[in-house]
Amino acid sequence: MKLYGIIGNPVEHSLSPPMHAAAYEATGVDATYSKYRVEEGDVADAVRGASALGIDGLNVTVPHKQAVAALDDVVLDGTAERVGAVNTLDFGESDEVRGYNTDASGALRALERETTVEGKRVALVGAGGAARAVAFALAEEGATVAIANRTESKAEALADEVNEVGAAGGYGLDVLEKVVPDADIVVNATTVGMEEDVSPVPADTLREHHVVFDAVYTPLETRLLRDAAEAGATTVDGAWMLVYQGAEAFEIWTGQDAPVEEMNEALRAEL
Ligand code: ATR
Repeated sequence: MKLYGIIGNPVEHSLSPPMHAAAYEATGVDATYSKYRVEEGDVADAVRGASALGIDGLNVTVPHKQAVAALDDVVLDGTAERVGAVNTLDFGESDEVRGYNTDASGALRALERETTVEGKRVALVGAGGAARAVAFALAEEGATVAIANRTESKAEALADEVNEVGAAGGYGLDVLEKVVPDADIVVNATTVGMEEDVSPVPADTLREHHVVFDAVYTPLETRLLRDAAEAGATTVDGAWMLVYQGAEAFEIWTGQDAPVEEMNEALRAEL
């Protein structure tokens, strides 16, 4: 039996166990997926210990993604290295531990349900951890990304890094009035909309031609997505990013295509 799991703190309410259990059931993969709460000072020991115990793969969640990416004994794939964060560890058959960032590829696949990304103009709100993953994924795919953030300096710093692999600019939130109407894709990667029914994007900038993706998944129907639907735009909710980051991890670990529909159903049953 294969052993998988997730490390984080807190991790009790992680939605990954039922989602991966549904994938094992749908595919007949013989595996279990457990939750491990790990304190911040214990991350290196936890990863080494997991390897020693013969655990096959781990997801990594808040607040450990950057710490795991910085570990000497984790070999990073290109995107994980650029983003500076790991959410999936593959212990594989060899001694080498490999680190991936499937938040980035998951965000891309979520958007690709509705649109191609290459050559598109993206208005991305946010410059934190989630926004980094989205910005690199979309820029690497050939989109031009306008990053707007409350703290403008963080958007500028992120854009400088993203510009090494693609095209990006960093701005304050006031740029949204100008940039959003002409964008093809609009993404919220801030936490705005979780606690309160507010949107980080002015409603009157949304258009029918937009594909609007909100990385927030509690609630599933955010104010931004409601405004977008009212404008006639196409919407992608945050659960899809969770589904595809999990699907990508499943594929890295098992070498099989993930049963995306079953994983999606299991996740939405929890939400
Ligand atoms: P995550 O890992 O979810 O991305 P994070 O790294 O803490 O979380 O980033 C939170 C993001 O939401 C940041 O872009 C933050 O803007 P600042 O960089 O200016 O802090 C943004 N954010 C949080 N609350 C906000 C608010 N009330 N209005 C606008 N942006 C907000």
